[in-house]
Amino acid sequence: MRVLKDLFEENRKWAGKLKQADPEFFLNLSKQHKPEYLWIGCSDSRVPANEIVNKLPGEIFVHRNIANLVMHTDLNCLSVIQYAVEVLHVKHIIVCGHYGCGGVQAAMDGNDYGLIDNWLRSIKDLYRCHQEKVDSLTDKKEKEDLMCELNVIKQVANVCQTPIVQHAWKSAQNLTVHGWIYSIEDGILKDLNVCITGNDDMV
Ligand code: CO
Repeated sequence: MRVLKDLFEENRKWAGKLKQADPEFFLNLSKQHKPEYLWIGCSDSRVPANEIVNKLPGEIFVHRNIANLVMHTDLNCLSVIQYAVEVLHVKHIIVCGHYGCGGVQAAMDGNDYGLIDNWLRSIKDLYRCHQEKVDSLTDKKEKEDLMCELNVIKQVANVCQTPIVQHAWKSAQNLTVHGWIYSIEDGILKDLNVCITGNDDMV
């Protein structure tokens, strides 16, 4: 099992199936990279970007990290956004969170998790900002669900505030930023209705 043979076998089967449906699929894909969507999601293995919206390779440019955060100091995420907007000219940036996010739960429970507490710092701050509203709910799951939604909305604002997106809008580039949330329990996506197409849409 040292070489994870089963994964290579599955890969051959997967590639074979795609080639059976379209013999030129990979050849055509190798000649261009023109995804319409940038997906910023959580690293959680239960929220695979392409699968949950049934998209093939080549259709979604993806960045994932714990709790789908967009931090203004994160060169990795910012580079992905810049490349997606300025080079690939994606038309949509989707920030997709999910209910039951371990990152959001860890930020809320006050326990010590070591290094990752630094990464989750901004969610702790967000919790403090909305504490009254969140703590007015009595059910723990409801509180966490609300924080997962608030986190997506915050990250949408962060995307919009990047100089990259600001510059794109100033240049009249067609670019919409969306906030979605996914339910691991039933596989269904929900639009949080924070669809931003320019500075006029920002609250
Ligand atoms: Co998560």
